[in-house]
Amino acid sequence: MTTDLPYHVPVMREEALKLMDPQPGGVMLDCTLGGGGHAALLAERLQPGGKLIGLDQDPDALIEAGKTLAPFGDTIILRAARFDTLGAVLDDLGIETVDGVLFDLGVSSYQLDTPERGFSFKDPEAPLDMRMNPAGGGVTAADLLNTLSERELSTLIRENSDEHWAARIARFAAERRVETPYRTVGQLIETVHAAMPVRARPEDKHAATRTFQALRIAVNNELTILGHALESAADRLAKGGVLIVLSYHSLEDRIAKQIFALRAGRGPGEGIYGTPPPASVALLTRKPLEPAASEVAANPRARSARLRAVRKL
Ligand SMILES: C[S@@+](CC[C@H](N)C(=O)[O-])C[C@H]1O[C@@H](n2cnc3c(N)ncnc32)[C@H](O)[C@@H]1O
Repeated sequence: MTTDLPYHVPVMREEALKLMDPQPGGVMLDCTLGGGGHAALLAERLQPGGKLIGLDQDPDALIEAGKTLAPFGDTIILRAARFDTLGAVLDDLGIETVDGVLFDLGVSSYQLDTPERGFSFKDPEAPLDMRMNPAGGGVTAADLLNTLSERELSTLIRENSDEHWAARIARFAAERRVETPYRTVGQLIETVHAAMPVRARPEDKHAATRTFQALRIAVNNELTILGHALESAADRLAKGGVLIVLSYHSLEDRIAKQIFALRAGRGPGEGIYGTPPPASVALLTRKPLEPAASEVAANPRARSARLRAVRKL
């Protein structure tokens, strides 16, 4: 860790805890451990006799969560895993169903605040990486910028972030890389600034926020993985178990909304898509919950959070 900031401040903790309602002896799964903030709240209430299984694909998160959760001893089981493999993790542990599953999506404050990871605008010389699991191989954000066609880049940026200036940013990127291939965060910021007129830059956030988000989503294949993971999580819920998703942008929220609606028997009606399957969950949040103004004031990174939850029938 390169700063004195807290690893991560858990978002909407009271709301999540109330909905999940962990009980002594229960078994719950935290698919996005981060610093272990939410996991600690759950673990405390699962004692005695319960289990909290925690996953994260980022090795740094597992180290930090391991420290946070050490006081809970053998209540805790941690695994380095991408959350769409949750079924295999549970199989391996001989666990059929769980009483609660939490997804707190996106990146942690630690990941954002650590320039070497390439998610932040802070250090122009930082490598443009953005992989949540750098040891796992795969392409970096710089690789995408250097190898995709201009059209592919434009589509990627627009579809993953709704960036109005996507086509122009892609054109400027394609021109720039002929001279100097992308390597650093600063090079991408320069491109976005060059492509986006000053008057078009948002006042409340960095001009490159959307472009960074789009690349991060693509590098980590976030949207495809999320859909598969939510389906598996819903399958592994015990009767009465609760599944919670905290999302931070509309694309994630839409995936949770659609999967929950289908599972609640509220999919598209008979006709074009056929008969929706019978409901296997009840919606606990018809509209997503938002953080209280006091939480946003204390932790501005909570401002875009949206919480959706379902209970297994
Ligand atoms: C917002 S943070 C979670 C913070 C945590 N709730 C806390 O209280 O500290 C999101 C975490 O999820 C992890 N993550 C994101 N996508 C993942 C995936 N597909 N599989 C596993 N972990 C993932 C990230 O590495 C990050 O540590």
